[in-house]
Amino acid sequence: MFDVLILGAGAAGLTCARECAARGRRTLALDHAGVPGAKIRISGGGKCNFTNTGASARDYVCSNPHFVKSALSQYTPWDFVDFMQRHGLPVRDMGRGMLFSDKAKAVAEALYRDALAMGAEFALNIAIRSAKMENGVFRVDTDRGAFSGRSLVLAVGGPAWPQAGASSLGCTLAERFGLRCLETRPGLVPLVAGQDLAPLCRELTGVSLPVRIAPPHSAEGALLFTHHGVSGPAVLDASLAWREGRTLSIDLAPDVDVVEAMGKSPRMEVRNALAGLLPKRLAGWLCTRGGWEGPVAGLSRKQLTALEAALHSFEFTPRGTAGYSKAEVTLGGVDTDHFSSKTMEAKQIPGLYCVGELLDVTGRLGGYNLQWAWSSGYAAGRWA
Ligand code: FDA
Repeated sequence: MFDVLILGAGAAGLTCARECAARGRRTLALDHAGVPGAKIRISGGGKCNFTNTGASARDYVCSNPHFVKSALSQYTPWDFVDFMQRHGLPVRDMGRGMLFSDKAKAVAEALYRDALAMGAEFALNIAIRSAKMENGVFRVDTDRGAFSGRSLVLAVGGPAWPQAGASSLGCTLAERFGLRCLETRPGLVPLVAGQDLAPLCRELTGVSLPVRIAPPHSAEGALLFTHHGVSGPAVLDASLAWREGRTLSIDLAPDVDVVEAMGKSPRMEVRNALAGLLPKRLAGWLCTRGGWEGPVAGLSRKQLTALEAALHSFEFTPRGTAGYSKAEVTLGGVDTDHFSSKTMEAKQIPGLYCVGELLDVTGRLGGYNLQWAWSSGYAAGRWA
């Protein structure tokens, strides 16, 4: 009999295992992967953006906007910086609060080593079949037999990026315990162009530019045209608020007074003058679509106003997202209403905990999701 069974040895599960074991709890973490922390290893393209020093409740999408506050204050970004320093892992500050490690794999391995050193046990390459509570004890059935524990922590993440072992087991198990799962969908995901803009995206594949996306999708940063639509940090962030049928209003030249900028080159062809503000191929495409030909001085006031509007509120109506296989995170998940925000324990089922991405908590791009995994895993680890 274990004190704590943790399902999933990812970012949240590893942190939770370390904390439980450090409290002297006999802890077993189970995972179907052969190595723990698969997503940490691939995060940030191998250069894990492990936290954001500005992380606060407003950086998360959750049906209860206050839910993340307690866990974030119990285990802060600076606690993880301490962890990095203790393990001699260099920290790179990339601005806007984003802290990176050049060695994502080393971060995962340090977490694993710490948990083992504290005495946590791991059952890897194991298939979890079911989990239930019997006479006040949790029982997990696997392809290697049954395990019992006084507490059970669900830390199996969500279905985003199945290539790294993600699955929808978490909601299936949670629902069997009578917990509600809010509809899940891909988040931090590229958006696929509709028929109208698909040719443009194909033609501009690889071109990127700084943009600002208007509310309610509010995001800022680079937009990258791809073969199927748009991606890049601004688009990934905007995808968190995007819903089917909605149109993004994209400012292709943030903070630029287009009329004034164009007025500086009255004799220049409009498309060439515009190429001073935008990637050349995009400038050419906009001019063809808007019918803005000839020298800048030949444009009427009305045409200039239309040109300005086309640049500052370019409309993009996605046909959909690129799906879970291209999504960094899962939106939705187990409803936080069922849990204490301080301990992550289910209010109606003592001993049952839920942490990380499996919960209906999704961070913006920039290190917020891993911070949530560390913080929620830590909070549960203090009580489970
Ligand atoms: P996580 O997915 O880490 O762990 C879940 C564990 O459960 C895994 O070990 C998995 O194998 C296991 N599991 C799942 N199903 C199972 C089953 N059926 N049976 C047994 N075990 C099962 N975030 C960030 O802040 N900065 C970044 O740079 C990045 N970069 C990034 C890149 C890419 C490509 C992706 C896909 C994601 C990111 N993220 C990120 C997001 C971040 O990786 C993610 O939010 C956290 O890893 C979530 O931590 P969890 O522990 O909740 O789930």
